[in-house]
Amino acid sequence: MSANKESWGSRVGLILAMAGNAVGLGNFLRFPMQAIQNGGGAFIIPYLVCFLLMGIPLLWIEWAMGRFGGRFGHHSTPFIVQEMDKKRKYWKYIGTFGIFTNIAVAAYYCYIESWTLSYVFHSLFGTFDGKSQSQVAQFFTDYTDIYTSTTGIPYEAVVFYLICVLLNTYILSRGLQGGVEVASKIGMPLLIVFGVILAIRGVTLGTSGAPEGCTDCDSFLGMNYLWEPQFDSLTNPKVWLAAAGQIFFTLSVGMGTIHCYASYVRSKDDVALNAMSAGWMNGFVEIVLGASIVIPIAAGYLGLGWVKEKAGFAMAFQTMPYLFEQWGTFFSAIAGMMWFGLLFFAGITSSLAMGTPWMGFMQDEFGWKREKAAWSFGLFTTVLGLPSWIFGLDKGWHEINMGADIKVPEFYRFVIKYVTPLLLLVVFIATIFNPQGGDWGAAISGLFSGQGWSLDNGSIIAQIMNKGLVEQIAATTDPAEIAKLEKNMFFVNLGRILLLAAFIFIAVIIYTAKKRRESTDNL
Ligand code: ALA
Repeated sequence: MSANKESWGSRVGLILAMAGNAVGLGNFLRFPMQAIQNGGGAFIIPYLVCFLLMGIPLLWIEWAMGRFGGRFGHHSTPFIVQEMDKKRKYWKYIGTFGIFTNIAVAAYYCYIESWTLSYVFHSLFGTFDGKSQSQVAQFFTDYTDIYTSTTGIPYEAVVFYLICVLLNTYILSRGLQGGVEVASKIGMPLLIVFGVILAIRGVTLGTSGAPEGCTDCDSFLGMNYLWEPQFDSLTNPKVWLAAAGQIFFTLSVGMGTIHCYASYVRSKDDVALNAMSAGWMNGFVEIVLGASIVIPIAAGYLGLGWVKEKAGFAMAFQTMPYLFEQWGTFFSAIAGMMWFGLLFFAGITSSLAMGTPWMGFMQDEFGWKREKAAWSFGLFTTVLGLPSWIFGLDKGWHEINMGADIKVPEFYRFVIKYVTPLLLLVVFIATIFNPQGGDWGAAISGLFSGQGWSLDNGSIIAQIMNKGLVEQIAATTDPAEIAKLEKNMFFVNLGRILLLAAFIFIAVIIYTAKKRRESTDNL
């Protein structure tokens, strides 16, 4: 039995930490772009359907699994899933994903988080004052560039990355109540306040920022584009796949963080309502706040056409500081501080959650102290960053409803048993075989007419084969450009080797833990 006796200090703390785990960069950077790239209003219906039929059931299941495992002293996925089915000895190895995924995601997540921290300072110190749109964009390129600097090291970015990892490590080393809960209680309310202020500005901007001659510069047009339902694309699998992917990412399901956080819930505490509260809070931040900042503000100043054509993930850094400048020196500093501050809070409350499964595992299985577990997570993340269906339904249903402050509707028993697994299967297969341009109709008719299946460069198989980079290299004649692309390919492959090594390393640690358990049992 684990010597780790931590638990959440209060219900508010638990819900804010769980909501903080879910609310992340995905709500503000990924959601608006997914919506734009998938037809605006066409995206929202599949998104909501996936939320209700896949997201909410998975939240309940993962919370219930976590609380169940916690009762036996398990605080990470491998032994939580093993406890649920003791006969199938391999389950704990499948649970490797519940630790690995978090460390792998945390490595790049902390990097983006570190940009937000650095940009808070740059906004406050007026770095962007008087810069043109292209100069602001160039600043970002230089900030992260490894090609043009003579050393190949973007020093400032590396320093902020290390600060960010250190900050995560320090908070984690303070424990759940003294660290994660405190960070969530400070970060989440501030995030919401900053978000509401910026969203009000975004929604009320209207045409007041339109430069002369711009006919589609109107923040309402941006909002309309996101919200006007377009039923015709409901039959487009690409949109459904994007919506399902967003639900997974934004709710942090399938990662192991929820198992871990929920394992510290007391065994008779509510799961049904708490899971809903955290899930809906994430929904509010994503749908209401996430949709009301970047897109409307960009549409207000640069036009809807620009947004549709150019909107992308990096826009938050490349374009937003320039747009804030239109509000004058003082207000642009405040807006930049709020925007990058809210991104930072969103990011850190998620990356902290990513650290806890590894910590829980090492504390449970090897008796590590919290500090040692936290610092080893920091180290692991840094190294990587530099280059449920085994729960019987009746048992699960009981677990979800036990101690519940609300009764989960019977309808969800059917959803959890049939609809959610089917959706998961479809999403899984579709992600692997995603055809070129997400055009399933053309891909299927191509298959039947003997042209084979043309994979999209974003599909998992094509990504493993580096299809996109290989195509770019083949299409280039400039030797300098080829050298750059080959360098990219080298880093991508190096990253993958590191990830594979990390996965094997964690699986070996799980094996060692199993051996330790067996020898203790025999004493
Ligand atoms: N759920 C987290 C996010 O949305 C990972 O960023």
